[in-house]
Amino acid sequence: MNSVRLPAALGLLAGELLAQSGMSVEDRVTALLSRMTLDEKIGQMSQSTSIRTPLSEQFKAEIRAGRWGSFLNAGSVTDRAEAQRIAMKESRLGIPLLFARDVIHGYKTIFPIPLGQAASWNPELIEEAARQAAREATAEGIRWTFAPMLDIARDPRWGRVAESLGEDPFLAGTLGAAMVRGFQGRSLADPDSLAACAKHFAGYGAAEAGRDYNSVWLPEILLREVYFPPFHAARLAGVASFMTAFNALNGVPATGNRFLLRDILRGEWNYDGVVVSDYEAVPEMVRHGYARDDRDAATKALTAGVDMEMVSTSYVDRLKQLVESGSIGMNLIDAAVRNILRLKFRLGLFDQTIAPREVSPGPASLAIAERAAMESAVLLKNEGELLPLSGSVRTVAVIGPLADSRLDQVGTWSMDAVADAVQTPLAALRNRMGTGRVLYAPGLRNSRDRTTDGFPAAVEAARRADIVLLFLGEEQILSGEARSRAFLDLPGAQAALVDAIHQAGKPMVAVLMAGRPLTFHDVAAQARAVLYAWHPGAMGGPAISKLLFGDAAPSGRLPITFPRTVGQVPIYYSELRTGRPASEKELGIPLGNPEQPAGYTSKYIDVDFTPEYPFGFGLTYSRFEYSPVRLSAPVLRAAQPITASAEIVNRGARDGVETVQLYFHHVAASVAQPVRKLAGFQRVLLKPGESRRVSFQISSDDLAFYDQSRRRVTEPGRVQVWIAPDAARGSMAEFTVQSVTEPVE
Ligand code: GLC
Repeated sequence: MNSVRLPAALGLLAGELLAQSGMSVEDRVTALLSRMTLDEKIGQMSQSTSIRTPLSEQFKAEIRAGRWGSFLNAGSVTDRAEAQRIAMKESRLGIPLLFARDVIHGYKTIFPIPLGQAASWNPELIEEAARQAAREATAEGIRWTFAPMLDIARDPRWGRVAESLGEDPFLAGTLGAAMVRGFQGRSLADPDSLAACAKHFAGYGAAEAGRDYNSVWLPEILLREVYFPPFHAARLAGVASFMTAFNALNGVPATGNRFLLRDILRGEWNYDGVVVSDYEAVPEMVRHGYARDDRDAATKALTAGVDMEMVSTSYVDRLKQLVESGSIGMNLIDAAVRNILRLKFRLGLFDQTIAPREVSPGPASLAIAERAAMESAVLLKNEGELLPLSGSVRTVAVIGPLADSRLDQVGTWSMDAVADAVQTPLAALRNRMGTGRVLYAPGLRNSRDRTTDGFPAAVEAARRADIVLLFLGEEQILSGEARSRAFLDLPGAQAALVDAIHQAGKPMVAVLMAGRPLTFHDVAAQARAVLYAWHPGAMGGPAISKLLFGDAAPSGRLPITFPRTVGQVPIYYSELRTGRPASEKELGIPLGNPEQPAGYTSKYIDVDFTPEYPFGFGLTYSRFEYSPVRLSAPVLRAAQPITASAEIVNRGARDGVETVQLYFHHVAASVAQPVRKLAGFQRVLLKPGESRRVSFQISSDDLAFYDQSRRRVTEPGRVQVWIAPDAARGSMAEFTVQSVTEPVE
């Protein structure tokens, strides 16, 4: 039954009266919902990407009719301002539009890709970067971003690993919550608050074979232990929205998955925010073989709990007829619209008066970008402490396809980047050393170039220089959505270029810029030092230059395991031990001995089964020593946490930041537990010779896991605990958990 149709003027007046009445958000939602027609309700549930400059008369008419609730990628600041004016001043009820954009790792000022930011292990820095991105985007009228991406990623073949916060649920949850706080700020109602979106719910990072959009098969216990926690952390941080994933989860597309959206999100997590589909994911359920047609797709999406449809028009084409025929209850429509209106009221959109304006990167935002790029870089090798480069270095050869590519260094999802604000490593090194001391020869036209005609000039530059700085990795286009790779090697002829340069006999430093872990074993063997800078964003150049010359020291730690070869994938630290664990460095079966009884362990016979670089790994320009782990008690009782601590000493000659990591392992449990699980970390700055005792409190809740009946419990038994520099090292202590406890949810 449609409500009484108020004339536009009275509708607007009512809207303003609501705003002035001091009514609660919920009451304002109820009051507005009661006056909406079915068409207006369905309009709120539709997000379009079709604003075109200039706005056509037909488009303006649609906005006046309440045809759209939200826009994605909506044109210019001017377009958005005009569309919003029409919606609020010329439509019957004056419901404001919600403008959305993928502000993933910066808006006009681009920060390192999220995987790079995760390598900082610095929640405060990540929150600050997201806050800056929110300031820029909201100034231009955007109030909703589709970030953070919280998909746990353990397969570097998957292009979207670049957008992830890595392989570990504790780290990804901690950093994802910081991103939510940064985007949304103190209050959603603040004009510079950018509604965040936890995406893609859920399991997307486990796409089979690392092939984007592919099927995902995950047992519920793994969903609950690994893939849900970062989303739950975002829920607890107050994330304003969720986005459904493209993939089918155990045969049911996430966009029609009632287990995910009703049982977990709305049920167990009691969530009242907006759920938006991914781009055209509603009708894609027909291709999945899950919906008969778009009527069925619209029904399944709405029934599962998708409030708003992104870009496709199944809702606006089908829902009215489905309601009028009695196939769908108005209660489902009202529940969806209520969630959408609630977000709009919470954002203060009905009361907004600030006109959007153009913004550009400034010194303050670029300073954050530089710090983020510095703290994201991971030093993987530094033979003979070649780095930091000494002042005696007179001339450097800058070689490689990524030394001077603004577009490539900002990485995926950087469509609003301001190119003039991007400084490349070549530019930064020339600024620092003077152009004459920097010999530049790219060697290749781009990262995929397989021609070698640029090699001679590069070799000549190397011969004339004191040291070679190689800038290698992936172009931007090789990273991100729909950019899965079957190989992880350096693309093109980059490895051959390094072989050629190596002949010049000069010390080489390899700086890699990429959107994923790459395999580059031979390059790492030839180089004296290796710095992994990811796609470092706008200030990657100055950041890398300052790290190379020691103005700052690298402090990054790997948020994801680096394989030796793609054949090891998926490879991650928190694996199960298996019944036949291989011993460290057990490699293969000795030749000439067809039956080697000792060889029957879980490994490969053609490559070392351990990773190239483990989760949590990273070097600095200092050297840290860890004392044995000390425990405050040998037994953990339900209400009495114990403290694990270790003394960390800086044995180096420079200040250094050490990321001290806490891991534990249940020796025996009703469900076999990973060999290690990250449960805490602390970043400590120590001066040369300085020591500090770093302590972690361990409660019974920290040790809880899901048992075979999917109850989250802490079981009695032996627990091993490490305080370590990464997931492969560190001293271990052991305590006992005395009794079973169910954590307080
Ligand atoms: C894309 C992505 C999603 C993004 C959305 C809007 O296909 O899967 O992460 O937010 O569409 O651009």
